[in-house]
Amino acid sequence: MTHIDTVADLRAWRRTAGRVVFVPTMGALHEGHAALVREARRLAGADGRVAVSIFVNPLQFGPGEDLDRYPRTLDADLALCAEAGADRVFAPPVEEVYFSDRSIQITESRLSRVLCGASRPGHFDGVCTVVAKLFNLVQPDDAVFGKKDYQQLAILRRLVRDLDIPVQLHGLDTVREPDGLALSSRNRYLSPEERAQAPALQASLQLASEACRRGFREAGTLLSLVREHLAARAPLGRIDYAALVDRHTLEAQAQANADSLLALAVFFGGARLIDNLELD
Ligand code: PAJ
Repeated sequence: MTHIDTVADLRAWRRTAGRVVFVPTMGALHEGHAALVREARRLAGADGRVAVSIFVNPLQFGPGEDLDRYPRTLDADLALCAEAGADRVFAPPVEEVYFSDRSIQITESRLSRVLCGASRPGHFDGVCTVVAKLFNLVQPDDAVFGKKDYQQLAILRRLVRDLDIPVQLHGLDTVREPDGLALSSRNRYLSPEERAQAPALQASLQLASEACRRGFREAGTLLSLVREHLAARAPLGRIDYAALVDRHTLEAQAQANADSLLALAVFFGGARLIDNLELD
């Protein structure tokens, strides 16, 4: 596997690559990312190629967020990509991606106003802009994203729909620790006490899901279960939001249905953990 850091080399590779399945990342890769690369490998088949990008995108970090201390672990990331079946890793410096006088960027004006977007203004515009640019650079046929960042995936589905970008998106289930905590590069910011309480996020969503299966479909009832469980099992956590939404439009629902998503964000100190669960 070769690692490329210029646009010129990427374009040269692309011209000879045939079908390409793409996994965009910001590095600090873990087993969740490895699962995306393995899925890309499966989708690409024997004749296709798998490309991974590693780029910490400054546009999607707000003031006071962790851009400067975002973990950078390129050597380990390259080893993980090779082991999971990637053919090329594109890991460009910032200057290779953004012109200093750039003046165009993408704005998403509906789905990005709720959930994580409500407390991170501009974040999803930065994500849309970099993903559109990466799609133009890599020109993949398919791209694989994690459902852990469910809002991101819903917004990117809108991006390709509304701008007619010819890339097929695939969403992959969240990879978790044995105790249910979703793998995240930000888990390393947790103290041992916070780490011990963090599995309560997924447990609280499971509890609400079971209640839903037993016929309790009111948003108020389901979200109270989530909040009560977190208050009891994760007293170090502070809920940013707990919401019942339509999984495509992200609009709040009063009653759960077959398209429902429970979405949750909880602060532990400076770290903000997110999780979600599709209800059935
Ligand atoms: P990053 O946070 O590095 O995530 C890259 C991809 O890995 C995303 O699709 C994310 O949903 C997925 N992922 C993260 N944790 C996961 C887990 N535990 N299980 C399954 N998938 C997981 O998301 C971004 O980078 C950026 O916003 C990006 C799309 C690259 C644009 O800069």
